[in-house]
Amino acid sequence: MKSTTISGFSKLTKTQKIAWLAENFASDPAATTAGLASWQHPDAGVQRVIDGFTENAVSNFVLPYSIAPNFRINDRIYAVPLVIEESSVVAAASAAAKFWLDRGGIHARVLGTVKLGQVHFIWKGEPSRLKAIFPAIRERLLANCADLTANMQKRGGGILDIELLDFTELEPFYYQLRASFETCDSMGANFINSILERFGDALNRFFTESKEISDTERDVEVVMAILSNYTPQCLVHAWAETPIASFDDVARQAGMVAPELAERFALAVRIARIDPYRATTHNKGIYNGIDAVVMATGNDFRAVEACGHAFAARDGQYRSLSSCTIYGEMFRFELTVPLALGTVGGLTALHPLAKQSLDLLGNPSAQELMCIAAAVGLAQNFAAVRSLVTTGIQHGHMKMHLTNILNHLGASELEASAAAVHFGIHAVSFSGVRAFLEAQRAS
Ligand code: MEV
Repeated sequence: MKSTTISGFSKLTKTQKIAWLAENFASDPAATTAGLASWQHPDAGVQRVIDGFTENAVSNFVLPYSIAPNFRINDRIYAVPLVIEESSVVAAASAAAKFWLDRGGIHARVLGTVKLGQVHFIWKGEPSRLKAIFPAIRERLLANCADLTANMQKRGGGILDIELLDFTELEPFYYQLRASFETCDSMGANFINSILERFGDALNRFFTESKEISDTERDVEVVMAILSNYTPQCLVHAWAETPIASFDDVARQAGMVAPELAERFALAVRIARIDPYRATTHNKGIYNGIDAVVMATGNDFRAVEACGHAFAARDGQYRSLSSCTIYGEMFRFELTVPLALGTVGGLTALHPLAKQSLDLLGNPSAQELMCIAAAVGLAQNFAAVRSLVTTGIQHGHMKMHLTNILNHLGASELEASAAAVHFGIHAVSFSGVRAFLEAQRAS
């Protein structure tokens, strides 16, 4: 008898979890049990660390860990680790890195590192009264978390400011404390959230205990206290520029001349500023690069993406994060993107491959990692748009995807080599590859 719901699942051992899952949900329980077991790390200690990342871990989900070499960023050469499943991304990043390598490389500068958090609360007194007592509240909040901030202050960070924002015209009695933070080399989510929750407690205590508060003003309701993933002041700018003549070869291969290619490239970027449908795909290309670095270094790609897309819509319309300028004989491509990243804390030292990535990158500061991620995002965007305005992306994409199709169709090594030769000069499609294999097998 199948039992598709359970209580106490998290208390089972991993073997028991797999057994229950296989028994009740798998089409082939034995294969599922064996399959999930086969992806465990051979070192039990490492596996225990990985299992500790989430609840109910039953196996590991593997993605390729790739390297894009030849990245010149701020005159330093990097071989950048990328974690991504999409066939053509690493090839595109590597090609773009190589293109810019001899053209001055990619430059990047951090414009700010401020992170934000909020305490949302309801208070039914006079708004002017709250504003008047806010300096005393602020002092109380800061004094109340001295123990939490001491270490961060030693590293040069801490709480930068606390503002009181009045939203009562939009929602009755709703106010917000908006705090800003410097979290140095850590992404800082735990630091910020701990402080915000402490602010919430201190706010409650201020209103219940303070002598300057009258009895009719004592009611305060802290709704929630949490960091904001929108960090428009944690920002990095990356750019690359080169004479338009640099495009001579690529343009010739596409039956164009360099100025035509450069103009078409710039037009494609302008289209992504005008049209949100195109902007979404354009920015997705940027995040193909950024996310892959963020994943490889154990950072939070959901936070990075959520923030970037909100930033892309900051003037009320969703737009391209990158821009392109042609001036005189020069082509300049740039990207400004918010990136809240850490190189200490979180998974950065716990995940063996995240730690490895940071080591390969020379153990960068958070600011250096922001520059690297933005540069890879710019390179990825450059490669995608350059393909789109010349050959189209399917040519390169399907060439890379050929391996996936061959594996899917169970091609042998011999068949795969024959296919590589054949599809070197023929368009790749799933049906084309299937037909090719059928013909090979029939002969
Ligand atoms: C595919 O993952 C990304 C692209 O669609 C980006 C773009 O269109 O700019 C190629």
